[in-house]
Amino acid sequence: MNVIAKELNDLISQANPHIMDMLSDMGKALFFPKGILSQSAEAKIKAHKINATIGIAKQNGHVLNLPAVTRYITGIEPDEYLPYAPSFGLPGLREQWKKALYEKNPSLAGGDISLPVVTSGITHGISVFSDMWVNQGDVIVMPDMMWGNYNMTFTVRNQAKIVHYKAFDDALTQFDIDDFESVITAEAARNDKIITVLNFPHNPTGYTLSKSEADRVADILLKIAQSGTHVVAACDDAYFGLFFDEETSKESLFAKLAGKHERLAAIKLDGATKEDYVWGFRIGFITYGMAVADPAMMTHLNQALEKKTAGCIRGNISNASHPGQTLVLKAMADPEYHPQKQEKFSLLKQRAARIKTVLSDPAYRSGFDVYPFNSGYFMCIRLKGVNAEQLRLHLLDRYGVGLIAIGDRNIRVAFSCLEEMDVKPLFDIVLRGINDLRAD
Ligand SMILES: Cc1ncc(COP(=O)(O)O)c(C=O)c1O
Repeated sequence: MNVIAKELNDLISQANPHIMDMLSDMGKALFFPKGILSQSAEAKIKAHKINATIGIAKQNGHVLNLPAVTRYITGIEPDEYLPYAPSFGLPGLREQWKKALYEKNPSLAGGDISLPVVTSGITHGISVFSDMWVNQGDVIVMPDMMWGNYNMTFTVRNQAKIVHYKAFDDALTQFDIDDFESVITAEAARNDKIITVLNFPHNPTGYTLSKSEADRVADILLKIAQSGTHVVAACDDAYFGLFFDEETSKESLFAKLAGKHERLAAIKLDGATKEDYVWGFRIGFITYGMAVADPAMMTHLNQALEKKTAGCIRGNISNASHPGQTLVLKAMADPEYHPQKQEKFSLLKQRAARIKTVLSDPAYRSGFDVYPFNSGYFMCIRLKGVNAEQLRLHLLDRYGVGLIAIGDRNIRVAFSCLEEMDVKPLFDIVLRGINDLRAD
């Protein structure tokens, strides 16, 4: 094993030996190289006369650039967006995102979390998480309705075994925490390490746990850790903040899990993608919330994990988009940032409310049931007696309406891109389409 990886592993073992047991084989082998990058970093500080270390081009003290490119970008200088960003991400953005995490999750107060490491969107964060914590054959407990791309990352790329619990009870009245508890407890009894991905607001159903449900989920995971099984809990908070109902938990489950037990690794995967409506910028973050017996070891543990994470990024995309990071950092410092976010939040909340009003009409029950939803971008319906894919194609061909079919019975509606005035016409067409298929 590389000597730097060994040093990091020694630090991690000293801080909390359970974390070493939870890392994947790749996670154990990862390190941040001291090669060109650290020599360049040293030169940046000390090479006052001539610095010929970096693999970019310079002219007259600034980054060399083509005006054909830079004339399209105003308000920031080429030096702020053309050079490579560090593999860890821009230091200022990491600090700012961490500060925001404490503001958005008041129960983190007093706890010690890592500095977020910047990824190329949340998908990349999930993939880095998977590389670092998931070995072939490891069990990941997830709901039977989930973002389809998890399959690609966890199963196809990293050969994990996904074990499902039922997302909702049959009557669609509530998130099925009883089933979550029984599935994860049974898997914990069979395995030394159990992994789960907690995604609220949830894709595809748009559900977020209530405060008491969130407490219960955190308790279940804590009990498993206390009983001796390692728990790796990733919180995919892609849609964080879009909570529309009063009783919905407004904090990430990460805040309830971070620092709670030495056998419980809490890992937050989030990003500016949906929170700041910058899908194409590709800016995500990985943040660790670990527990240690000796508080003096916390910084060492966090830094070791950050270095392994940055090493994983270095070996795969090298670093995330610099323009995207610069723009998000500038936006977060803009006095209009919070009011503008509030305005867009209200817009999405109104659309969700409009869907609830429209679907309260019992006429729709003849065609479909509605999954509980209170947050995020999406909601789902469960069809009665027609196939989801057949209906999807029929709506597309006959009515020019595009929706997503999930499994045999479910249709996902992205209200994030649906104007309020289109809500009733949409569901009327869905019902008509169902009746067309029944009549055929
Ligand atoms: C649950 C969930 N996680 C992650 C992502 C991906 O986010 P990003 O575009 O930042 O990779 C999505 C986007 O569709 C999502 O629904």
